[in-house]
Amino acid sequence: MFHAAVGPCVRKRSKPASVSVPRHAVKFKEVRLYLVERKMGSSRRSFLSQLARSKGFIVDDILSDDITHVVSEDSRASSLWAWLKGCGLKNLSKMQVLHISWFTESMRVGMPAPVENRHVIQDTPPALQEGLAPTPMALISQYACKRRTSTDNKNKILTDAFEVLAENYKFSDNKSSCLVFSRAASVLKSLPWTVQSIEATQGLPCLREHTKAVMEEILQFGHSFEVERTLSSERYQTLKLFTSVFGVGPKTAEKWYHRGLRSFRDILAEPSIQLNRMQQSGFLYYGDISRVVTKAEAQALGNIIDEAVRLITSDAVTALTGGFRRGKEYGHDVDFIVTTHEVGKEEFVLRHIIDCFKKQGIVLYCDYQASTFHMSKLPCQSFEAMDYYAKCFLILRLEASQVDGGLTCDEGDNRGWRAVRVDLVSPPMDRYAFALLGWTGSTQFDRDLRRFARFERKMTLDNHTLYDTTKGEFLTARSEEDIFAHLGLEYIEPWQRNA
Ligand code: CTP
Ligand code: MN
Ligand code: MN
Repeated sequence: MFHAAVGPCVRKRSKPASVSVPRHAVKFKEVRLYLVERKMGSSRRSFLSQLARSKGFIVDDILSDDITHVVSEDSRASSLWAWLKGCGLKNLSKMQVLHISWFTESMRVGMPAPVENRHVIQDTPPALQEGLAPTPMALISQYACKRRTSTDNKNKILTDAFEVLAENYKFSDNKSSCLVFSRAASVLKSLPWTVQSIEATQGLPCLREHTKAVMEEILQFGHSFEVERTLSSERYQTLKLFTSVFGVGPKTAEKWYHRGLRSFRDILAEPSIQLNRMQQSGFLYYGDISRVVTKAEAQALGNIIDEAVRLITSDAVTALTGGFRRGKEYGHDVDFIVTTHEVGKEEFVLRHIIDCFKKQGIVLYCDYQASTFHMSKLPCQSFEAMDYYAKCFLILRLEASQVDGGLTCDEGDNRGWRAVRVDLVSPPMDRYAFALLGWTGSTQFDRDLRRFARFERKMTLDNHTLYDTTKGEFLTARSEEDIFAHLGLEYIEPWQRNA
């Protein structure tokens, strides 16, 4: 239900103080916007209001009969209309009640976009009201960055199967088939309903013949023969085992498999194999780091980092990123961004944290990579290159006493500590929004953001910048919201990026 929290209702225009006075030049006098706070939230509402004003739009903070366009992020028509009707407006029938997509399009083109049917939030007859009809297929985008994907996957049986095949293609270095199955899995993860028949998937994007055939098998027989065959193949099982070791990628795994090695014992007993430092640690701490990391453990690591930072500066900013920022309960590691308000000091702070950990005796493995970041290298041409920031891949010793609720250990394990994988990255503050967006993931979400930027907007996005090829300029961003706005995309919250 809508209530007072959405902001004041109708008020006479005789109180000019309560109506925002535009500080920017007004370009579109005939258009007067009102943004509904519900679902949008107040900080995003004020950010978008400012953005629109800076582009010459009039935005009122109060809903009055002078408003021409009501913009809502919440597209559930019945509650929105019930609220609007309760506001005592005389002009409601003449107002455009529009979905936020109209607003983002208008911001992108810098003027009021023509109103199309798809923008209009109609006052629905009771029988068709919310919740009953699933989202029309035509509205589900081929781009993960235009879909909202929570951690609540309603199609896990299908997506797990697709991911097995995607992984198997990755092992064979077949990137395009790998992508076909990853994309199909990603689309199904975004559905708020469970696929129960192949007919129900009519019109969904990214489902090819092959993915449909696998889906059909599962819907009909409860499992897919192709997936079963893959799972039981010696090659898949061995490569899966080998790549589960920290520092072993598909290439190395394939090389070992090709030489006839099938188990960890085979590898460790083979005198001609020289494990690098990363792989040695991978084997040494295998039991711990192949186990999931919990939210409480991630939280404990956040505290340890904050403590170390506090010892040297009050200027630092630390942020949890990766899967935990997307609201996941478990992860394979914990990812943090560490930076400073003062540009140029961030790398020093990262090094200090590591020194501090070393003094505490909790560093089990450390691969520090100094920054190679320089604006002159940008924009990056390669599509999925690693970023240039100072970073550190770690294995840390985490004490049970530091974790709220203790550690979840195997029976008989009373060491009182575990090894955990931790990633730290240190972008300069003026790059923070780009780094945060990139490191929050998911990988599929990031991939589609870049693809969308390139093919739909002629822009290049990476972990460092957003570059507009048409204008030949870098676009500045202080927050993730700014980046979505530059791309003309609705903002997707971190917990909706589990594509
Ligand atoms: N990432 C990156 N550059 C790196 C390493 C990672 O941009 N050198 C990004 C990845 O693309 C991903 C995010 O950082 O979007 C987090 O990576 P990772 O920890 O591998 O995945 P998570 O999504 O956190 O999943 P998990 O919970 O399994 O850790
Ligand atoms: Mn992670
Ligand atoms: Mn990581």
